[in-house]
Formats: sequence, structure tokens, C-alpha cells
Amino acid sequence: MSLLPSLAGSLAYGGDYNPEQWPESVWPEDARLMQTAGVNLVSVGIFAWSRIQKTPTSWDFTWLDRVFDLLHEHGVRVCLATATASPPPWMARLYPDSLPVTAEGVTLHLGARQQFSPCSPDYRRHAAALVRRLGRRYAKHPALAAWHVGNEHACHMNECHGPHSVVAFRAWLKSRYKTIDALNAAWGCAFWSQLYASWDEIHTPRRAPFISNPAQQLDFKRFTSDAFLDLYKMERDILREVSPGVPVTTNLMAFFKPLDYHAWAREMDFTAWDSYPDPALPDEGRHWAAVGHDLTRSLKPGLPFIQMEAATSAVNWRALNRPKPAGLMRLQSLQALARGADGVMFFQWRASLSGAEKYHSAMVSHIDPARCRIHAEVARVGAELKKLAPLAGSTVRARVAIVMDWHAWWALELEARPVKLDYMATLHAVHRAFYEQNLATDFVHPEADLSAYALVVAPVLYLLTEAGAKNLASFAARGGTLLATYATGIVDGQERVVPGGYPGLLRDTLGIWVEEWLPLGDRFANTLSFTGKKPSARRAASTDALACREWTESVHVEDAEVLATFTADLIAGRPALTRRTVGKKGKALYLATGLDAAGWTRLAALAAAEAGVAPVLAASAEVEVSLRESADGARHLFVLNHRHAPVSVSMDKLRGRDLLTDRPVARTLALPALGAAVIRLD
Ligand code: GAL
Repeated sequence: MSLLPSLAGSLAYGGDYNPEQWPESVWPEDARLMQTAGVNLVSVGIFAWSRIQKTPTSWDFTWLDRVFDLLHEHGVRVCLATATASPPPWMARLYPDSLPVTAEGVTLHLGARQQFSPCSPDYRRHAAALVRRLGRRYAKHPALAAWHVGNEHACHMNECHGPHSVVAFRAWLKSRYKTIDALNAAWGCAFWSQLYASWDEIHTPRRAPFISNPAQQLDFKRFTSDAFLDLYKMERDILREVSPGVPVTTNLMAFFKPLDYHAWAREMDFTAWDSYPDPALPDEGRHWAAVGHDLTRSLKPGLPFIQMEAATSAVNWRALNRPKPAGLMRLQSLQALARGADGVMFFQWRASLSGAEKYHSAMVSHIDPARCRIHAEVARVGAELKKLAPLAGSTVRARVAIVMDWHAWWALELEARPVKLDYMATLHAVHRAFYEQNLATDFVHPEADLSAYALVVAPVLYLLTEAGAKNLASFAARGGTLLATYATGIVDGQERVVPGGYPGLLRDTLGIWVEEWLPLGDRFANTLSFTGKKPSARRAASTDALACREWTESVHVEDAEVLATFTADLIAGRPALTRRTVGKKGKALYLATGLDAAGWTRLAALAAAEAGVAPVLAASAEVEVSLRESADGARHLFVLNHRHAPVSVSMDKLRGRDLLTDRPVARTLALPALGAAVIRLD
């Protein structure tokens, strides 16, 4: 299935195009250069609201009509933005209460972008009118390929405490709890004298003298994600009505804490994200992009996604903005495809001459494209994407899943924990351990269908609903291998401890219970030592001791084997890693500590061996291997050399033809520095 039917089976290639920032005389050159660079899709109008509607009553679409026609003549399709990401100055002048307010009560003013509250009725009314007009005007234009709602929702302004948000929060709570007593019970308001008598006593969690009610904070995060999503849905519904059949999406930001993208993805026709790995940290950047691609792909199982933005070279918003070395942008583009993208787009087409982003790289920079190495690479990638069209519609099929839940993230990182835990750091570390071994992973919601996986890893899944716990338990009962870690399943969906020994909700499945936590911080240390009784565990864990990080626990075993024990502290000799056999083939492993990178690598290998999962091709460090599979059985193997030196990769029994060179690939594959092959397997 093609993500964008109007691209007729090609991969998407292009970027944000902001013609409203340029004299019209520049546009023909843009269109001509796009054509020669192989561009077939551009995102137009993202920040064009004030150009379209300079005053509440004056509309001008004529310039946009000309842009559409020009692009169409040059074979470039349009992903048309709804332009609602940055309201015109008149919005703040006429409706000052449409501006967002922080937890400290500070109003965020005009002058940048995103200066609106998602709950402002005036903003919403004007946004709806704009979207309806845009939708009606361009629904039938042959250049229209997709709709791009807003832009990076909540990126800069990710919660609002203004008057409209307070009213909306109360309404959201009323529909969740129905009665004020139910809310008092759910929030545990008997604690610290917080029992509410009426809805209008309730506020968003503004800055308070001490730790705010955690359940209130958690609900506010849920509400905030829903409030932005509600705005997205308002725009999407208008587009579906006036422009039926045209796919609707928006650009996500992968692991973006304020928005629950599991809920968002359900409302999107396909997912897309903006990938900005830091060229100053090449090793981290390589994994940072991979993990973002994997999440974005996983959010819509079975479907490709689009990398909606990336930088061709440097960005402008870090403290230190290094350019990408020649060839890295190409390799990163291929990496996006390797991990399931059906399109590669950039911010932006032509570098601005003024404004806050003029030092951000682009597809056409401040110098003559004919003399610009970045533009030459842009054109090379455009030509290569044409050769890779057979990939369109295919996806990556992972056998390993990492459970990830925004609600667990929000709850875990509230205040007053045994030690400050960083959900993202742990998730990234776990993912990286599999990534470095070229074991494909998906990210899944705790209540998702797990039948496609052999191994499911649940790291620090602090908050777990009963349905989520049942889902994980039945995955193991059906023969899967489950690996849960410390700080998992501690509280229910309402942030209430499940009593009787942690992890309340998974105790029976894991066959253990935890009595106390021994967080390590920087001042305490421990190691985990394999007992050596289990040969498979020993093989995968080539050394007997792994360094513990962050957290340890005092574990009691009820119905499990002990694979490793702690060597020190108050828990010397007590279980650190356990395994329970569930039914005939299922396994439930529990790891009672955090690990360093080397430790996670061992644990990932051990868990993969327990589950019988192996990489499609074993390769040396920094050589990324990924497989895309289509419904018709075609299989494309990506081999990406992230090293700045040539490598030679042994192909084992795999054979095929490299689509980039159109040459057969035999026993070994030689790749130059930052080189890549995309092999259609025989
Ligand atoms: C993104 C944003 C773009 C542009 C870009 C610069 O976050 O969506 O509009 O600002 O960053 O890197």
C-alpha cells in the first residue's frame, strides 16, 4: 500500500517550502531546481497564516494558487499545511487571553511562534475557519498529496495554565470522574487536606509551595496531550469533510514527553517525524535517529512513515551547531528508509535570509547551488531514491518489542521517588543494546497485540493498568519470553500503589516479589553475578559480573529460578535476575537492577537467546543492518556503514542485487566510509 496514492509508488523526497518568504521571481528557479534534484513532495504553508489572512476579514489565496500551479507543472506534489502553527499578530491583539500561560503565571507573548492556548475558543474558531477555506480551495487541486496539520504540536509551548485551559481541565475531569467524590478518591485528596467540595475549586497544577498532588499532575499531563490532540482532530475532521480521501498527518517528534503519541497515531493516516541527530555526537546521533525511526514506525504497525524534517547539514538551535560531513546526510536518509520510512524530507528547501532560522542548513543554501556540496548531495539522494522505489509500502518486521507508555513515563518522573529515574535514558539504553546487535525492535503500548513478537521487554514500566498487566501475562502464557525490569508495575493507572509486594500487577507472572528498593545514585554500587546454573544464560553473558546502575532491589523468589544474584550491599547473595517458566514454553524474566551499556548488551543477547531471536545478518560494530519486507514477499536488506573508514561485510548465505549500484552482491560486500548498499535479496 502506498502512503501517498498521488506519488504513484515512488518514495517521497523534498522538504518544507516557504515561498511566502521570497519574492515571486525566485519561485521558478525553486521549481526548476526541485525538478533536477528529484524532489517530488514539498510541505507548503506551515507558517503562512499571516500571509493568507492579514486581518480577520482579508483573505489572500492567489499567491498560493500560483505556487500550487507552478509546482504541479514541475511534477512536485504538495503536502499542504493548515498554517495554524503560528497565528497572525491580530490574534493576540483581539484575543489576549488566547495566549498561553505557564505554571508560574507568565503569559507567553507574540514574536516567535506557537503563541496560542489549545483551549482558546477564539483561536480554535479562527483556526477552523482557515482550515475549512484551505480545504475547500485545494481539495481538488491535482498537486495536493496530503494534509499537514499544524506543526510539531506543543513543541515550544507544551502546557497552558490560562483561564480557558482551567475551564477545559475541569470539563475533562468531570467527564472522567463524573462526581467530585470520585475525583477526591482517585487523587487521594484525603492526603494533606486536599478534599475538594466543588469542581470550580480545582485548578491546573500551578506552581505550589511543595510537591503537588501526583495524581493531579498526571491527569493534567493526560489532559494536555488530549487538548492538543483535540485541536488536531478538529482540523482533521474538517479536512476529512471537505477533502475526503486525502491522507492527513502531522510531524511528530518521536520521544516527545508532553504528547501521548500512541493516542495521536490512532488519529493519523500515517505517521511522520522530524529527525535531528547532533552531528557533533556522531555515535549517539546514529542511534538517536534509529530509535526515533523505530518508534515512529511502531506507532502505526505495518505501515511505513515519512521523515518529515531533517537538516541537510547544521541546525541553528543548539549551543554548538556543527555541519554534517560529506556523505552523512545521504547515509542518514538511507537509514530512515532502512528503518521503514517511505519518504525523506528536510527543513527546509531554501535557506532563509532573515528571521530566527537563517543559519539553519537547507536543500538550497545561501550560495549558488551549482557550487554547493550540500546541494550536490541533495541531488544525489534524490536520484538514488528513484532507484529505491521498489521499497515503497514495505516495512520492517521486528520479533522483539519494547513496551513503552507515555502515562508510565509521566508517572515515573514525578517528584518524590526513591531516586530520580530517567525513563527515556533507560528506554534508549535498552533499545540500543538490541540495535547494536542488529536485532530489530518495535515499541509497543502495554495493551497492544503482542502476537507478532517472540520477546517483549518491559523496562521501568512503573505505571501499569490491569489490562496492560494481563496482556503481558498472557503473552508469556502463550509461549512468549517476557523480560520485565525493576520499577515496573508499581502503580495502577491512577498512580496508586498496588499493595502486597512489588510489582503488584506482575507478581504472579514473574514468580517473585520485591520487599524494598535500594537505589544506588552515585554513592552506592553493586554488581550482578550469574549463578552459572543455566547454560543458556552463561553462554550469552560472557562474563559473570555486570555492574549495577541506578537501582537495586531486595527480591523474594516464590516460583522462579535465580539466574544471577547481587554481590554486595544489604542484598548480597539475593536474586538479581530470575526466570519463571510459564506454561509449556513461556518465560518470564525479571531484572532487579539497572545496567550500564555493556550490561544491557549482555542482557539483550541473553533475552534474545532465551526467545530464539537472531539478527538477519551478524555484522561488526557501527555497521547497521535492517530488513524491509513487502506484502508480495520482496525483501530488501540495508547494510549501512557508519564508520569513517571502509568495511567489508560477510554476507553469510544471503545473496542479491544492490539497487544503488545495480550490481550483484556475493560473499562479501565492500562498503566505503559512510557507504551503503540496499540489496534486493534473491
Ligand atoms: C523543527 C520545526 C521547523 C524548523 C526546524 C529547524 O522543529 O518544525 O519549523 O524550526 O525545527 O530545525
